[in-house]
Amino acid sequence: MAKILVTGGCGYIGSHTLVDLIQNGYTVISADNNSRSNPGILNGVEQITGKTVKNYKVDLCNFDDTFAIFQENPDIAGIIHFAAYKAVGESVEKPLMYFENNITSLINLLKCVQEFHVPHFVFSSSCTVYGTPDDIPVTELTIPKPAESPYGYTKQMGEQIINEFAKSSGTRCILLRYFNPVGAHPSAKIGELPIGRPQNLVPAITQTAIGKLPSMTVHGSDYPTRDGSCIRDYIHVSDIGHAHTLALQYLEQGKNKRLCDVFNLGTGNGVSVLEAIHTFEKVSGVKLNYMIGPRRSGDVVAIYANNDLARNELGWNPEYTLEDMLSTAWEWEQRLLADDAIFGSQPKELN
Ligand code: WQD
Repeated sequence: MAKILVTGGCGYIGSHTLVDLIQNGYTVISADNNSRSNPGILNGVEQITGKTVKNYKVDLCNFDDTFAIFQENPDIAGIIHFAAYKAVGESVEKPLMYFENNITSLINLLKCVQEFHVPHFVFSSSCTVYGTPDDIPVTELTIPKPAESPYGYTKQMGEQIINEFAKSSGTRCILLRYFNPVGAHPSAKIGELPIGRPQNLVPAITQTAIGKLPSMTVHGSDYPTRDGSCIRDYIHVSDIGHAHTLALQYLEQGKNKRLCDVFNLGTGNGVSVLEAIHTFEKVSGVKLNYMIGPRRSGDVVAIYANNDLARNELGWNPEYTLEDMLSTAWEWEQRLLADDAIFGSQPKELN
């Protein structure tokens, strides 16, 4: 089967995608400089799949080192590009670092795609490209508003760069716009490894529940929503991983309608912060210690997906429920506590 290069393969979504690709018969390699990830996660991938994954510990901002991966693997038949910085708050503090890292790495990769005639390219995009939409649910035709952060701009710019590249090179590309990826593989052998204090809701919930954090804050309960807290479209990371396999198959089978297709990856269900917390308490049996705090700047009030296109075109049917998302996240958090030697000491803060 085709050899796929997964950049950021040691990351949260990358590792879950490696598992799905392997289980669907693909040969995979990873390129990840581990600046924001732990190579130990590949042991979990091996435990689940029985396959060892080679990781090239390469900074994709270094063109020569990136090119060398392709020289060693001229049979790369497709690329799934995850590797990027993605901390929204950090991007506001360090915009140049985000533009340099996320855009330079993408351009280096695309230069290699061109040089080695790699036919298929799948890009990790995000619902953040929509900014604050006027109407929800958002479809792929929803006109993106200005991004809420430099991180969001790197995703909007990345999509435009890939669009133009596809037109000029003939490479068939797919942009996958994730909503809020959460949860962990049901085996609890891989999952999310936040660096430092988690910014995202679900790891903040599970780390509070297990006692790593004394409490957590709900960022605002005075929004114009059904319970005053923000609404998001939480989607299980394994459902996200499977969508990447389906996207590659879609391209391999020549089903793409355009040189660059776009798909929303969300459940289509909006869930509020408080609903997520209460659901967690129900599935875990843990009473969560949270307080209501001020709104967080940059937060969108509500966003969730219309996922008809991914369902109808890719044949994607997300299978995990909100309960599954939260229970697998909880099982993973408990595993981390039980085997804290699994990954050694995680970096205490973003480097
Ligand atoms: C969700 C809601 C918070 C933590 C993320 C990524 C972004 C993109 C989309 C990849 C918000 C609230 C959170 C906490 C809280 N993913 N919250 N207390 O902001 O939607 O964006 O997913 O591209 O990169 O950042 O996700 O989990 O940070 O927040 O109340 O301790 O939970 O205010 O309303 P967000 P999030």
